Amino acid sequence: MSEPTVTIVQAENLAWLRRQPAEPYQLVYVDPPFNTGSTQRLQRRRSTRDEEGTPGFGGRRYATTLLEERSFPDRFEDYVTFLRERVAACLRLLAPDASLFVHVDPRESHYVKVMLDELLGRDSFMNEIVWAYDYGGRARRRWSAKHDVILWYAVDPGNYRYDYDAIDRVPYMAPTLVSPEKAARGKTPTDVWWNTIVSPTGKERTGYPTQKPLAILERIVRVHSRPGDRVLDFFAGSGTTGEAAWRLGRSAVLVDENPEAVKVMRARLAAARPKVRRSRAR
Ligand SMILES: C[S@@+](CC[C@H](N)C(=O)[O-])C[C@H]1O[C@@H](n2cnc3c(N)ncnc32)[C@H](O)[C@@H]1O
Repeated sequence: MSEPTVTIVQAENLAWLRRQPAEPYQLVYVDPPFNTGSTQRLQRRRSTRDEEGTPGFGGRRYATTLLEERSFPDRFEDYVTFLRERVAACLRLLAPDASLFVHVDPRESHYVKVMLDELLGRDSFMNEIVWAYDYGGRARRRWSAKHDVILWYAVDPGNYRYDYDAIDRVPYMAPTLVSPEKAARGKTPTDVWWNTIVSPTGKERTGYPTQKPLAILERIVRVHSRPGDRVLDFFAGSGTTGEAAWRLGRSAVLVDENPEAVKVMRARLAAARPKVRRSRAR
């Protein structure tokens, strides 16, 4: 088996998808912008002691310097049409036993699911995975929204990759109700995946807004593809899919139109040391 490679492409994805030869991918994961109507922005700041600064921790004064700002626009007149065109263009790149994962938020997920049912067929719908996290402030006038939705479709619901033995185990909620052996081994997760967000201060953090946890992508890649398979993410952002694929011995193609994303992906994957190929817009 050849060594896995990660290819980073800076391109508008619809045009790129339409230009591709029909080389099949076994797994496609996409996490499109969520149509929040605003610009996704992440700022990195450093605070230093400064007698002229504003009061802060321990009664001391601090000055804050903006180190960098990363952003991309997250606004579409017609979100579902935007996504439909891109998913439709990627269908011919899917292997006969491929899976497609579309990561959306609860404001759009029902519209996107109907659209995917139309494109792939209702029989191809496999799971609505709820990624539940618990971080940040609490709403006071409704239940705090702390989950995303990941829709899984299989091109052929009778022939797809789902490696049960590769599934990681999670603790039982009531371990005293099962045998000590079972409790020690844990259980396979359901379609509700509890996983914290990328820690704002952790090592995994790239500084790219909307970065998704590596653990979520590793679970998808490990269970839904095999070593040597080809994985595609055409809304690649910080390249989480690429890092997961490479760590697990799969090759990946990562497409994003934002030069900031490409910069972050290159740095991230160079640190993880895959054989990264660069491409502008093939
Ligand atoms: C939600 S982010 C993806 C985050 C990624 N999953 C991660 O873990 O870092 C969506 C990305 O889609 C990119 N994007 C939006 N529209 C695009 C388009 N038409 N072509 C290519 N990339 C696009 C944005 O630049 C942004 O980086």
